[in-house]
Amino acid sequence: MSDRVIAIDGPAGSGKSSVARALASALGWSFLDTGAMYRAVTVAALDRGVEPSDAPAVAALARAAAIETLPRVVIDGRDVEDAIRTERVNEAVSIVAANPEVRAQMVERQRAFADRQPEGTVVEGRDITTVVFPNATVKVFLTASLEERARRRGEEGAASVARRDEADASRAASPLRRAPDALVLDTTGRSVEEVVEEIRAWLRTRPH
Ligand code: CDP
Repeated sequence: MSDRVIAIDGPAGSGKSSVARALASALGWSFLDTGAMYRAVTVAALDRGVEPSDAPAVAALARAAAIETLPRVVIDGRDVEDAIRTERVNEAVSIVAANPEVRAQMVERQRAFADRQPEGTVVEGRDITTVVFPNATVKVFLTASLEERARRRGEEGAASVARRDEADASRAASPLRRAPDALVLDTTGRSVEEVVEEIRAWLRTRPH
């Protein structure tokens, strides 16, 4: 399975989603935005009045939830495509994502998703190269300057982006890390097409 996975990690606004989506489309592969899954669980918790920091309650909710990410993000039949990008979710998602039981649930689903795809899957997130698919033959770590990442995030603002990065990199459960064997690409000032082309060029140099 892992030889049919391209794993992409990086901090907020590094270009993961745009690059992963475009790469998947160029290859005719599926695409999985794992951040959307953590965001969907966060929306469900907030809507049900469950405190994001109430770890057992959020874990129970995650365990029972039906989640889809394509063509739109849906949790338990509710379309949350727009709700997952709001400020209240930006504020709470890193707390939900630090919950080890929630992570175990999501990781299992991410692996099962990739298993079901007839072609390969481009998967992006924070722990894809290190925990979810550590044996993926192709691993990419995207970075960009904080200034540029905040600009890409628009309304969220630099302070919130920096706070989320700090939370994601310092948590105990699957923190954001560069896998030693990942191709590290700085996307500052570069277009999605340029980055995708660089990954594809790198792919061509690798044994199949
Ligand atoms: O696109 P952006 O960088 O704003 O965030 P995202 O990919 O939608 O992920 C939102 C949040 O989910 C991150 O800040 C992490 O806290 C969490 N996340 C995670 O812990 N592990 C993943 N594989 C993906 C996202």
